Amino acid sequence: MFSESATYYDKIYSFKDYRTEALKLISIIREYLCSEENRLLNVACGTGCHIEYLKALFDVEGLDISQELLDLARRRNPGITFHHADMMNFDLHRKFHVITCLFSSIGYLKTLDNLARAVDCMTHHLLPSGILVIEPWFTPDAWHSGTVHSLFIDEPDLKIARVNTSFADGRLSFFDLHYLIGTPEGTEHFVEHHELGLFETDEIRAVLANAGLEVTYDPKGLIGRGLFIGRRP
Ligand SMILES: C[S@@+](CC[C@H](N)C(=O)[O-])C[C@H]1O[C@@H](n2cnc3c(N)ncnc32)[C@H](O)[C@@H]1O
Repeated sequence: MFSESATYYDKIYSFKDYRTEALKLISIIREYLCSEENRLLNVACGTGCHIEYLKALFDVEGLDISQELLDLARRRNPGITFHHADMMNFDLHRKFHVITCLFSSIGYLKTLDNLARAVDCMTHHLLPSGILVIEPWFTPDAWHSGTVHSLFIDEPDLKIARVNTSFADGRLSFFDLHYLIGTPEGTEHFVEHHELGLFETDEIRAVLANAGLEVTYDPKGLIGRGLFIGRRP
């Protein structure tokens, strides 16, 4: 999914304020986690931008399916353990007080069955009283098919234009991200196809509850996309 654009991931998402998000996340964790203990696993960690701010307070590890993004996460966070794995099927042989899955990464699971597999797997890695924090993708109502989107980076030695039209087929949102990238070495064009499942808030809540978690939903969350907090009894 991100193999061709990985080099430019941090530029493309430079509009995100990972420091402020991490600080909000820390205060939510402090509210829901009773213990002072602090082993944290960031699932679908991407280039490790949240980990950069979480590692001062937590004994943190990251996990992602993209080797290219993990390479960047490792470079950003020397000494931190990163796992190359699929969030639907991993076994790290250790458990955590906090597991996070942020910036809509669960959308890439596409179906509720896959979401249930991933939530079961993450819950299996939670210690008693531990919490699972999930930032969802759009709900079906909030997704507007047939809308056009663009993002531009304009630096002296780097020009990026990313343009796409959003579509949906039932509960699946999909879009082709067209990248036009210019550097002093030359200009290239490539297309990345993305498909993400559109889940209702109550459906995600039910998946977490079925995994045995006590669920709280914050409609605002870190960036306005909502946030699920599941606590293992
Ligand atoms: C939108 S990015 C978010 C990355 C990071 N959390 C952030 O905030 O920048 C989605 C991430 O989900 C990862 N991902 C997608 N499907 C996955 C899977 N099945 N298992 C693990 N990671 C996955 C991608 O590789 C990518 O890093």
